Amino acid sequence: MNLPDLKQAKKRTDNEVVEKQVEYNYPKAFVNKKYFLRTYGCQMNVHDSEEIRKYLEILGFSETTVLEESDLVVLNTCAIRENAHDKVFGYLGRCKHLKREKPDLLIAIGGCMSQEENVVCEIKTKHPYVDIVFGTHNINELPKLLLENKAKQTIEVYSIEGDVYEGIQYKRDSKITAWVDIMYGCDKFCTYCIVPYTRGKERSRKLENIIAEVEELKQNGYKEVTLLGQNVNAYGRDLNMGYDFKDLLEKVAQTGIDRIRFVTSHPWNFTSEMIDVIAKYDNIMPYIHLPLQSGSDGILKLMGRRYTKEEYLHLYNQIKEKIPNVSITTDIIVGFPNETEEDFLETLDVVNTCKFDSAFTFIYSPRVGTPASLIKDNVTMEEKEERLQRLNTLVNAYSLEANQRLVENIVPVLILGENEKDKTRIYGYTDTMKLVNIEGGCDLIGKIVPIKIKEAKSFSLDGEIVKEGVSI
Ligand code: 5AD
Ligand code: SF4
Repeated sequence: MNLPDLKQAKKRTDNEVVEKQVEYNYPKAFVNKKYFLRTYGCQMNVHDSEEIRKYLEILGFSETTVLEESDLVVLNTCAIRENAHDKVFGYLGRCKHLKREKPDLLIAIGGCMSQEENVVCEIKTKHPYVDIVFGTHNINELPKLLLENKAKQTIEVYSIEGDVYEGIQYKRDSKITAWVDIMYGCDKFCTYCIVPYTRGKERSRKLENIIAEVEELKQNGYKEVTLLGQNVNAYGRDLNMGYDFKDLLEKVAQTGIDRIRFVTSHPWNFTSEMIDVIAKYDNIMPYIHLPLQSGSDGILKLMGRRYTKEEYLHLYNQIKEKIPNVSITTDIIVGFPNETEEDFLETLDVVNTCKFDSAFTFIYSPRVGTPASLIKDNVTMEEKEERLQRLNTLVNAYSLEANQRLVENIVPVLILGENEKDKTRIYGYTDTMKLVNIEGGCDLIGKIVPIKIKEAKSFSLDGEIVKEGVSI
């Protein structure tokens, strides 16, 4: 992409691992100023926001959750579907209004939308009141951009990914569970997906840096880490250092941290050795998010997914056989261009075969710059919506069934906090990533405790604390 005013960062060549340390030597220039940060999209963005928060607090800002109280608004945006765009521009309208009353208000936009040429053009022409646009490859430059803030709009976005940064500090949302980046970017180029353009090529962090981060989290009392990457199974391939995702998983498991999760898996790079490692270690959770996208071979081909329905099912069966009580969830897109009723029935067939624990379902959304956006879309919106509804009815029924199977079972739950709406209850997640609400027990926050499941709903469970002495 050739973005206006964008810089080309030095491109990393194969076999060349360039690491840079992040700079934190900034003046506290914004003491008594408040920032309001809004995060859109996936876990990557949630974790990037933890990085942004740290920079802002080093500069002296404190956080507010009230937009009107803020001196700086940062929108960390998502580009995956059109409605994510609409939400951001809708919110920007509120910020513009506020800036009329508070002319000194600073507005900064980061995240995946900033990496899109058409969005940058739109901000330049239609939203001149936005002060700073920064991208996904230079979050670490936000302090500098704020300190140098100029009267005119600053757009500082790199169109190509640069080096891997180490020593990043975070203001983490939780003291119990932590995100750990293991790699950045994606090389898969599924034809509908904007991620490879907004997040760049796959770049893995070196194994020893990841392990050091996990060790430190463990020492600081963290109970769970979630290893993050667009495609965790491809971990290490760009490094050519002789290790891959299964080796990383094994080393992370050997740190002894209580719980390990990872997202997202791509069926294409998922090897049976990786399944063996997941099965071997009790602290690697029996939970795998395995996006299907479609059950039709024709549509999978058009999507560039690199597997067939049969190959997906083969992998699914292997995982189910080797990992006892594993929970498998998925992502599905309906209404891809050329999707016929027969194609859609193939998707329903996979759902009926796999009975996923839960599924995120989406209507296809054309993204500017992706190959799929050039395919003539011959599926009407009515058809797309009707398919989505049929699909949701089916996946919700299987979610409820999976939850019902747990009723009267005793399962290990990591307690994360009080229920926001009802302070007499606490909540946590099972090893299989199911949300459980529990009566009482605030003293249990941060602990993994046996919980007896009493009632199943489609998207959560109700459970009760089990008397002492019960092992799980
Ligand atoms: N339209 C609809 N859904 C999409 N996803 C990715 N790109 C698109 C798109 N253009 C979905 C995929 C992916 C999830 C994160 O978002 O299902 O797995
Ligand atoms: Fe997008 Fe496909 Fe990469 Fe996932 S694997 S981020 S869907 S291109």
